[in-house]
Amino acid sequence: MKKKITLIGAGQIGGTLAHLIALKNLADVVLFDVASGLAKGKALDIAQSSPVNNFEVSLSGTDNYEDTKDSDVIIITAGVPRKPGMTRDDLLEINLKIIKQVADGIKNTSPNAFVICITNPLDVIVMALQKYSGLPKNKVVGMAGILDSSRFIYFLSEELKIPVNKIKSFVLGGHGDSMVPMLDSTFIDGKEIKKLVSENKISIEKLDKIVERTKKGGAEIVKFLEKGSAFYAPAASGVEMAESYLNDLKKQLPCAAYLNGEYGFKDIYAGVPVVIGSKGVEKVVEIKLSDLEKKNFNDSVKSVTELFNAAKKIDPNL
Ligand code: APR
Repeated sequence: MKKKITLIGAGQIGGTLAHLIALKNLADVVLFDVASGLAKGKALDIAQSSPVNNFEVSLSGTDNYEDTKDSDVIIITAGVPRKPGMTRDDLLEINLKIIKQVADGIKNTSPNAFVICITNPLDVIVMALQKYSGLPKNKVVGMAGILDSSRFIYFLSEELKIPVNKIKSFVLGGHGDSMVPMLDSTFIDGKEIKKLVSENKISIEKLDKIVERTKKGGAEIVKFLEKGSAFYAPAASGVEMAESYLNDLKKQLPCAAYLNGEYGFKDIYAGVPVVIGSKGVEKVVEIKLSDLEKKNFNDSVKSVTELFNAAKKIDPNL
């Protein structure tokens, strides 16, 4: 039997997710959105490309949670983006309300699903989703690290004129300005990036600029697009997580995962390397951090904790 992926939110990322999943023949797709016409229209449009692209998955659109029943994977992008004049707390309040509705909608209909959250502010929203839904912590994860790492690798590749597949690196911490690109774990064609700095192949200033550009990667795209935020790279990153789960690939991927003592933190979600297989998050991988990386990671988790405290003020039930 074909697997079933439900996409909650059929906006820019939701539509792109549906298209990528179909092109990969990964699973049947249900697009859910409060704007049901958007979900139905996108499902029909993509389905009509099946004779051209030769895929066999079915696609449908709905605003009824019954149609999402028994999903194997749920990817959530429901939410509103930050608009001019809106504070971070305003956004938090609106998206918390939306995520509560989503949690109520999925907890009984798909209790066994692997749930990937993309809605911002990511780390806090994924944590709220887990609490509201009561779904197992190893089955509720956030997508951010793959995207941030992918941006970092792309920028390095452009600068160094080296193909992306020869660069290994990843980004940890919260999904925001405090994210931590892991320079000590960055290898260019097998060589430590620090070695390239000492060989003058890249200056420390250039590297710092790339780190800063990565941290502001989302904002750079918002500035270009003017209406809306990035969607191709976020969708591609979400699909990689879904694929690792559905096909039991056990890939090690940086994701926002629940920490239960790992890296010295408890009862908080933050970006760490995890192994994703058929059991969900099968392992949080604890890599050795340099003193600076550790400090930056701790600061980053602290800012996630602060924002979660702000969420608790909005909803004391959290
Ligand atoms: N239930 C279901 N869908 C909802 C709900 C809800 N309660 N509230 C809003 N939506 C839908 C909107 O109707 C819209 O179609 O969520 C969709 C969001 O789509 P876009 O506005 O196009 O946003 P997108 O670019 O896809 O990003 C979604 O991901 O990266 C984050 O910051 C981004 O939080 C945002 C999210």
